[in-house]
Amino acid sequence: MSDQNPVFIPGPTNIPDRLRNAMHIQTRDHRAPDFVETFAPVLEDCKRVFGTETGQVITFPASGTGGWEASICNTLSAGDTVLVARYGMFSHRWIDLCQRHNLEVQVIDCEWGSGAPADLFEQALKADTEKTIKAVLVTHNETATGVKSDIAAVRRAMDAASHPAMLFVDCVSSLASMPFHMDDWGVDIAVSGSQKGFMLATGMAILGVSQKALAAMETATLPRTFFDFRDMMAANASGGFPYTPPLQLIYGMRESLKMLLEEGLDNVYARHFRLAEGVRKAVEAWGMKLCAQSPELYSDTVSAIYVPEGFDSNELTEHAFNAYGVSFGIGLGEMNGKAFRIGHLGSLTDVMVLSGLASIEMAMADLNYPIELGSGVRAAQEYYRATAAANQ
Ligand SMILES: Cc1ncc(COP(=O)(O)O)c(C=O)c1O
Repeated sequence: MSDQNPVFIPGPTNIPDRLRNAMHIQTRDHRAPDFVETFAPVLEDCKRVFGTETGQVITFPASGTGGWEASICNTLSAGDTVLVARYGMFSHRWIDLCQRHNLEVQVIDCEWGSGAPADLFEQALKADTEKTIKAVLVTHNETATGVKSDIAAVRRAMDAASHPAMLFVDCVSSLASMPFHMDDWGVDIAVSGSQKGFMLATGMAILGVSQKALAAMETATLPRTFFDFRDMMAANASGGFPYTPPLQLIYGMRESLKMLLEEGLDNVYARHFRLAEGVRKAVEAWGMKLCAQSPELYSDTVSAIYVPEGFDSNELTEHAFNAYGVSFGIGLGEMNGKAFRIGHLGSLTDVMVLSGLASIEMAMADLNYPIELGSGVRAAQEYYRATAAANQ
């Protein structure tokens, strides 16, 4: 089996050679005076990716889940109420994490395949006349269903309700791949990780934190040690880390930010849209359906695709792996067995996407799916030909 094949899971993503090389370094002393020269620009450049000038970037050696935990335990106290909608596996897991921290979680259950219900948030916030809701939690890109939510609409709903709750957004599978505007959207904490849009190994939780959230930190009483923003910020201010940093990842992060900013964030977003659109053309040609219920919800980083009635999506992903050495995302939670996912984010080109579409088509044909071999690839090829830079 070739380890040259790209992965088509929605993270961790393919790591480009430039970033693998950047992380391939001998140990350096993180207490030496030159550590700050590597680390400080990482924090500064991340602000551009989050779209914040007034917020602070805080990182931890953790995955995105650690970022969720850090957002909660630094700003809230046991018994505080949070408002959150569940429309996929990741919004569900964030809810679970809040419940385990003894928060009162007001859950709005939505159909999987839909997005954050700004109108229902507005109603719930208007009904909260005592202002007990301390934070609204939203998953920007629900990786389980391939649904992107409208964060600006959630902010408008919060403003329309004149509610002072903080807005926390999970952008684990959207940051550095789809537009994110932390300041414009009034996001108080944005949670992400190193292994998706940043094209790195897993291991760094990356958070954008507003001044309002930093103020909430002063009165919040949930226990925190490893994830204490205050310790991290104090150490960062003097150029260091409160404990041993994930050094190789920080070097990788430095290079990743260079790559993203060299390409230009708008170009990064446009590339992801174009790659995703090619996948969507293929899905249409196969006569199959996306889990995302309508075009404004379509994610540019992952497509979750229902298999036809009577087929098992786990058999498909397993067969694609065993027969062709190519990984696709399995269906998570309610989608298990019913849908598979094509991750199309991070370090990816149209040529790579075409190889993924060709591989899954072969796997579908092997399992007697009612598709015509080549039909999806052809639809994507036509779209990529028509939109290739050379053709513009
Ligand atoms: C939207 C979203 N949130 C949170 C997570 C959890 O992040 P991690 O697996 O890095 O802990 C993921 C992981 O895929 C995700 O896609």
